[in-house]
Amino acid sequence: MIRILFVCLGNICRSPSAEGVCRALIEREGLGDRVQVESAGTHSYHTGKPPDRRAQRAAAGRGLDLSPLRARRATREDFQRFDYVIAMDRENAADLKRICPPGAEDRLARLMDFAPERGERDVPDPYYGGAEGFETMLDLIEAGVRGLLDHLRRHHFDDGR
Ligand code: 4NP
Repeated sequence: MIRILFVCLGNICRSPSAEGVCRALIEREGLGDRVQVESAGTHSYHTGKPPDRRAQRAAAGRGLDLSPLRARRATREDFQRFDYVIAMDRENAADLKRICPPGAEDRLARLMDFAPERGERDVPDPYYGGAEGFETMLDLIEAGVRGLLDHLRRHHFDDGR
């Protein structure tokens, strides 16, 4: 089993959206017995809260239900539990590096590194902007998650499925 943790700042916009997009693709592609996914935030401002309404609305527009998800803070132990700890932006990656146990640094990556064709290294924080920021966010996340699943197929699944 490959375990993936998506991480942003608050765990109410970007990382739960990435979790929802990834869960849907995993289900659609029949990878449910091979890949598990969760999300977390580098800060605890919103711990226990469901995803931001705007994130839920944008996701619902693409057929995704984020309502069962609840925010939690990322911990040092996550680097033991998860094979991939995927940051949404440079700041999230820097914050995660500070709690990463020695030797686990290779588990840490940035989502957009898996979609280099998009020419973006970060999924921008949509929290203080308008609804369109949530659509851009989902476009980037969809590209990054597709690239990440392609990476898993190449590196972990012998049958290339
Ligand atoms: P997220 O967005 O990191 O994508 O969940 C944010 C959510 C909350 C805040 C900032 C970003 N905040 O400052 O409360």
